[in-house]
Amino acid sequence: MTAEVYVFDAYGTLFDVHSAAARHAGEIGESWQNLSDIWRTKQLEYTWVRSLAGRRATFWQVTEEALDFAIAASGGIGAGLREKLLAAYRELDAYAEVPGVLGALRQNGAKLAILSNGDPSMLADAVRSAGVADLFDAVLSVEPAGIFKPAPRVYELATSHFGIPARNMSFQSSNRWDIAGAKAFGHQTVWINRTGRPDEYAELAPDLVISDLRGLVS
Ligand code: LAC
Repeated sequence: MTAEVYVFDAYGTLFDVHSAAARHAGEIGESWQNLSDIWRTKQLEYTWVRSLAGRRATFWQVTEEALDFAIAASGGIGAGLREKLLAAYRELDAYAEVPGVLGALRQNGAKLAILSNGDPSMLADAVRSAGVADLFDAVLSVEPAGIFKPAPRVYELATSHFGIPARNMSFQSSNRWDIAGAKAFGHQTVWINRTGRPDEYAELAPDLVISDLRGLVS
């Protein structure tokens, strides 16, 4: 595969969405992983429902709503923890290989971008706190499209930004449904299957499957 531009999903692909709850696991108790799983699952569901119902929402809004559901569904958490979890979500851990792989891709002459559901201010906080802001040529939020992934108008934000065809861009995501959307749009696609999940969306297969981002440069 050859690509002029590598476009990365943010949450789950570059940034570990479970690192927020993991940081406060001691205070949440043993249900922290379950709470974190519900938080993520509901956050994504809320984006799809807003997109299909034609209602606008910000990713921060659905992130807060999803956390409130997760807290209620897991029987509540201690006072002040909701705010701590939300603050941690603004400064998630990047996966360990992220800076090295991004640096190597840049050295090979590739342009790099993020294309994420995240609000511009969330993405700015995420790349700054992870120390990777300088590695990207563009950090693109779905916000101007007014709809969430996997709507085609979202993937179009990246092709119009760089002014090159979708097939000359490689799209990386750990979210298999996001890979399906990017493939349908015409991108080369790389599924980062970090947790060994079974494949889905057979008619929209990824061009490459790797277990973490190091597979892009090895
Ligand atoms: C994103 C979500 C899908 O970063 O994780 O766009």
